[in-house]
Amino acid sequence: MTDKGDIAGHYAREGRLSEKILELARQHRVSPEGPLTVADLATFDQFHLRARQGTAELAELAQPAPGSLVLDIGAGIGGPARQLAESCAVTVVALDLTEAYCRDAATLSAAVGLEQKVLACCADAGRLPFPDATFDLVWTQHAAMNVPDKQALYRDAARVLKPGGRFALHDVMAGPAGPPHYPTPWASRADQSFLMPPERIRELIASSGLTELAWEDRTDALLADERAQAARQSGAERPPGPYMLYAGFLELSRNVRRSLVENRARVVIGLFAKPEA
Ligand SMILES: C[S@@+](CC[C@H](N)C(=O)[O-])C[C@H]1O[C@@H](n2cnc3c(N)ncnc32)[C@H](O)[C@@H]1O
Repeated sequence: MTDKGDIAGHYAREGRLSEKILELARQHRVSPEGPLTVADLATFDQFHLRARQGTAELAELAQPAPGSLVLDIGAGIGGPARQLAESCAVTVVALDLTEAYCRDAATLSAAVGLEQKVLACCADAGRLPFPDATFDLVWTQHAAMNVPDKQALYRDAARVLKPGGRFALHDVMAGPAGPPHYPTPWASRADQSFLMPPERIRELIASSGLTELAWEDRTDALLADERAQAARQSGAERPPGPYMLYAGFLELSRNVRRSLVENRARVVIGLFAKPEA
């Protein structure tokens, strides 16, 4: 039987990640000398397919206005939230179930001077601790896979949106060819994973009162990009990335790719609007 603690335990199994990330970011700087930047951390702090690029693509779709208040559900250690705060000039509440990740998110945001713009909050996706109509944008990447009650997830996301606000998602969903290969990055075992077919997710979001603006299955494009990148990098040393954070990361990544190739999982991005009052 899986409970929320079990899922948080899956993510917290390597202990705190922030010290390791700060050390790696200093060793593999992408910005010139000076204080560490969001870009330096971003090599290691984005726990979803296509990393920074995936976040940039979803931001391009969602187009948050400068000054907006954004909620990131299942924000991890806050990598996407920091990227959004910096690139779109928004304030982001980075909400996550895993306490260790929330502490890491706060530490890393403070390390790049974003403690006023990225606010870590430890809570459960289906029971958001905010009043109705609080946020301009609700955002989620690669977290719904761990949430068994998706109706509660989407209803609560719709509840906390202001009228006219947007809901943006970038998620792994069930493929028609059977369950994914375990362990995956989001689940050590099958009973921690709750993938649902894309069409069912679409229906649940619509029944939460949100209007669809965009929906795109990105799986084939993602796999084609990865093949092209692998060909370009053939024989070269693997560039720095989150795989440096703990042993076993590459096995998890391989299982995701295998699952996508075998049509056991799909990657979708979508954008929805809450009707004006
Ligand atoms: C694969 S990570 C993605 C993190 C982040 N969105 C990113 O892309 O870097 C999934 C995150 O969802 C969080 N999560 C899982 N179930 C949750 C729930 N019920 N409520 C809030 N967060 C949850 C996990 O703790 C984990 O940090």
